[in-house]
Amino acid sequence: MEFFAALMAIAQSPDPKAKLEALYQLDAALEENRVVFDHDAAVQPVAAPSYAAFCTIVHGAKVVRRRNLGTRHGRGAFLHALAHIEYSAIDLALDSCYRFRHLPVQFYEDFFRIALDEARHFSRLSQLLAELDFCYGDFPVHTGIYDAMLRSAHSLRVRMAATHRHLEANGLDAHPELERKIRLFSDGHAKQIAAALQEIYHDEITHVAAGDFWFRYACGRDGVLPQDNFISDVQAAIPGAKFPKPHINRRARLAAGFSAVELAALG
Ligand SMILES: [Fe+2]
Ligand SMILES: [Fe+2]
Repeated sequence: MEFFAALMAIAQSPDPKAKLEALYQLDAALEENRVVFDHDAAVQPVAAPSYAAFCTIVHGAKVVRRRNLGTRHGRGAFLHALAHIEYSAIDLALDSCYRFRHLPVQFYEDFFRIALDEARHFSRLSQLLAELDFCYGDFPVHTGIYDAMLRSAHSLRVRMAATHRHLEANGLDAHPELERKIRLFSDGHAKQIAAALQEIYHDEITHVAAGDFWFRYACGRDGVLPQDNFISDVQAAIPGAKFPKPHINRRARLAAGFSAVELAALG
């Protein structure tokens, strides 16, 4: 099995179940040393969102954001939005692993592990969604993560800045409020959601840390300073990204590698 070809096939798989199965097969093949790495194989452009066949795609502004978590529909929409972020994040981590070649082995280990984490997050949220008789594809979605992935495909530095170090860090910023909202409910399902959010949160700190590490690596390679380029690199892939941000989770971002001086400038 060739690593990069397998990554592309998994990222493009149009069926969630088949995607996860293929991901776990590649993981097993890596464990058993049955994988070869052809860094010189052609890099294909990003094709289309792998969920386009079964999700209705709408403009980001049209996705409902305020939801009543006390109703089946509101809670379903909430879980679906989170599941969609995780599903998009599987493809994103696979694409980062696929697209940037001739890097240290640690890079591929980091982003393949992240893809596995995102798959576990997606599975857990899908299960909670299924308990409400909904499944992934039942609510409209936006392509925010996919768009940033597309616009950062040309540069390791922009990819790391915009997606793993910015979008994933935005998830850390959002976490405390999401957890607070679901903890207002004391039913068993809400408790399971809160536990899932906690697990995801701790994993996501390590994802942002990987983004931070490889962003700094890319800056070193390009001969530029991280603090001089982060905001412009984010905006190169996400034109609407605004700084300073109204709210940042300082503790989580510090744990993920941001410096106190940089955080003062970002938030
Ligand atoms: Fe995740
Ligand atoms: Fe993540």
